[in-house]
Amino acid sequence: MNLPSLKEAQKRTRNKIPFIEEKYELSEDLKKLGQGKYYYIKTYGCQMNVHDSENIKAILESMSFQETEDFEQADFILLNTCAIRENAHNKMFGFLGRVKHLKEERPHIITAICGCMAQEESVVDALMKKYKWVDIVFGTHNIHRLPYILERSMARREQEIEVFSKEGEVVENIPVKRDSKYKAWVNIMFGCDKFCTYCIVPYTRGKQRSRKPELIVSEVEDLVKKGYQEVTLLGQNVNAYGKDLEDPCDMGTLLEMVAKTGIPRIRFMTSHPWDFNDAMIDVISSYDNIMPYVHLPLQSGSDRILKLMGRRYTKAQYLELVSKLKEKIPNLALTTDIIVGFPGETREDFEETLEVVKTCEYDSAFTFIFSPREGTPAAKMKDITSLEEKNQRLYELNALVNEYANKKNQEYLGKVVKVLIEGPSEKGNLMGYTETMKLVNVDGNEETIGKIVDVEITDVKTWSLDGKVV
Ligand code: 5AD
Ligand code: SF4
Repeated sequence: MNLPSLKEAQKRTRNKIPFIEEKYELSEDLKKLGQGKYYYIKTYGCQMNVHDSENIKAILESMSFQETEDFEQADFILLNTCAIRENAHNKMFGFLGRVKHLKEERPHIITAICGCMAQEESVVDALMKKYKWVDIVFGTHNIHRLPYILERSMARREQEIEVFSKEGEVVENIPVKRDSKYKAWVNIMFGCDKFCTYCIVPYTRGKQRSRKPELIVSEVEDLVKKGYQEVTLLGQNVNAYGKDLEDPCDMGTLLEMVAKTGIPRIRFMTSHPWDFNDAMIDVISSYDNIMPYVHLPLQSGSDRILKLMGRRYTKAQYLELVSKLKEKIPNLALTTDIIVGFPGETREDFEETLEVVKTCEYDSAFTFIFSPREGTPAAKMKDITSLEEKNQRLYELNALVNEYANKKNQEYLGKVVKVLIEGPSEKGNLMGYTETMKLVNVDGNEETIGKIVDVEITDVKTWSLDGKVV
């Protein structure tokens, strides 16, 4: 049994990160372990988790398990969890209640919890004491070990917990079953060393570890050969990419290398304003296949709150970066993340955030009420603002964000834009995204699915556009 420890997760060492680059191979016995059995996986949280689930699915299928969308039919139920806010916790425990009922009826079912919550000491404590019936808990650093953990669990039928608090190796060649045939997630780095005071990610995902650029490029080249149209380069803080490598590289250089593979569309997320340098902006503006789309979390527009958050930039520095991005990248779409109700945030602080939203005119924003996360410095800060006041701030912020989202979308009316058609929309025609990540409902024929086509925008809503293929 390996249990997570908050104390260990808080530490950073200078230890070299081992790279495992061998082929991922399983024994003949493991390859047959899931024969005749179905798995169901539920994924919470960010794109990183979505991509981890794509890896987990492929691992399970290499063990002969088959996927089912109906969790009542499954022999193996896995919850890939998120820890970022309290409501992610609550959702997962809510679903776990349903799984418990099912397991009472069908005791042979194996249940597993992985992802960011599995990295939390207090969660694993609870799972050991109150949820003894959960068979397996494994963390974000050892996804590749799932076959061995599962084999042990099936043989012993005791609770198996294998969570490593410290960053593991960078493991290459984990198989992947991608959800889309046209758009792919590509990890470029794991973990984060920024330690913003509200954020649990540096504890659940560990120290920053970058993948080697040549291996990222070869993954993208392979995707090009398979006909993929778009890659999203993923990391918690992609702008810091490469600083930790033995042969240091940076995000601008990597972006250029990926652009040269000829993949039609490239985007990246998430950026931290701190590491966004001019060279990177120049690369984005020089390659047509790098999408003019930047997600740049603001978190707060008040210098006082930014300092308490440990964000390492001021409002003025953020605004200067945005103005540079807008000047150098024509047609830029800019989105952001904002937290309201951080401990000590006053009405004046909040109003500064509103001012920044007005200046930046975001295409859209993800907005959150601060949620204290155990083990983070902000969880211990004095918080006197009432929930009612926080809800009011969120409401006001969202109203402003929507106003600009609508205004930005209006600029598209009558224009012809490139859309990657992904498939049927809920309304019965087709749907896809522009290179600025605007959702478009498209009138067109099915032959366009998986292609980037010219679409004339005929109608505009706050969160989507309508158009027809021209
Ligand atoms: N409370 C509320 N929002 C948070 N985020 C991260 N941690 C917290 C927290 N403790 C938000 C940030 C981040 C996004 C992914 O989630 O805005 O950018
Ligand atoms: Fe993703 Fe962070 Fe949630 Fe983990 S805690 S799933 S890294 S958003």
